[in-house]
Amino acid sequence: MKVTLSVIKADIGGLVGHSSIHPDLVEIGKESLKKAKEAGLIIDYHVTAVGDDLQLIMTHDKGVNAEPIHRLAWETFEKATARARELKLYGAGQDLLSEAFSGNIRGMGPGLAEMEFEERPSEPVIIFMADKTSAGAWNLPLYRAFADPFNTIGLVISPSMHDGFAFEVHDVKAGKKITLNCPEELYDLLLLIGSPTRYVVKAVYHKASGEIAAVSSTERLSLIAGRYVGKDDPVCIVRCQHEFPAVGEVLEPFAFPHLVEGWMRGSHNGPLMPVALCNATPTRFDGPPRVVALGFQLAQGHLIGPRDLFDDPAFDEARRLCNTIAEYLRRHGPFEPHRLPMEEMEYTTLPQVLEKLKGRFQDI
Ligand code: 13P
Ligand code: 13P
Ligand code: MG
Ligand code: MG
Repeated sequence: MKVTLSVIKADIGGLVGHSSIHPDLVEIGKESLKKAKEAGLIIDYHVTAVGDDLQLIMTHDKGVNAEPIHRLAWETFEKATARARELKLYGAGQDLLSEAFSGNIRGMGPGLAEMEFEERPSEPVIIFMADKTSAGAWNLPLYRAFADPFNTIGLVISPSMHDGFAFEVHDVKAGKKITLNCPEELYDLLLLIGSPTRYVVKAVYHKASGEIAAVSSTERLSLIAGRYVGKDDPVCIVRCQHEFPAVGEVLEPFAFPHLVEGWMRGSHNGPLMPVALCNATPTRFDGPPRVVALGFQLAQGHLIGPRDLFDDPAFDEARRLCNTIAEYLRRHGPFEPHRLPMEEMEYTTLPQVLEKLKGRFQDI
């Protein structure tokens, strides 16, 4: 059977500040999707929160970009926002950038990752959800899982993976996309995705079969709003095993806590910390950025699980290293490269302060 997996998320208010979410918002999400399941609109759902972002994980048979599914997500966020406003949660309705739903949630503020595929005899999937970071944070881990044989031994020894994968890369500033095949165009791929603020891995495909392997949310809130309204806090879906990397090969890149943009006021570089759901509550300097991985097996579209995959002592060293890197970076205070470079600060509140100094600059 063909099934669509949709992950749609939004920050609609934090408790306290941007550190977490109020349980009422998760309850409203569950209630809303329960009704949609009973009405036959969706097959199954799982609602959770990572940091201050409400995550709606849904399976259905309507395909990607389906109006009723996007409407369901939008209306669920609206209902939860009403509660967030009552509780005066911080940044209530933060990511709902449009007044009214207009048919497709893309470009309206929430982030989304969706894929449609024929469910395999066994269909393990991982849903990655991050807080205090941006679209582009998945570039390095997706590259390592799908193109780096030092990470993924399956690329070397599995006949069903040996041909490699194709990466669809979006230039989020120019609004263009390109597909690059690996391993043959590996250097071209790295040329682009090494700049994750501009070039974002949107999707990965099995090269020989064309089957979709991974898809990420590429919404850049600052580009939609034209100003700083919080970070994108992206999500990513990855299918595992058989012709795709094993679950452990997909998780392995996160044992290295790479630097991502986000953290305090969305204006800093910091290490991405893999955590169990209960620890997805960034507090130190509003961070460091977090990533959660929930694993599911699909069964006729039903979500069997989740397993909280970073809830494993094997990731303790990555977390410890994260804290060491965080400590080191914090000592830079307002200096780059802890603080983002000037061109990235364009979408923060920095230009307003800079404006004050404008008249005082003299020619040298
Ligand atoms: P099994 O033989 O237990 O299926 O494991 C194979 C595998 O993919 C390990 O990563
Ligand atoms: P969020 O994008 O998670 O709302 O965080 C915004 C922020 O400014 C944190 O300091
Ligand atoms: Mg927030
Ligand atoms: Mg957030």
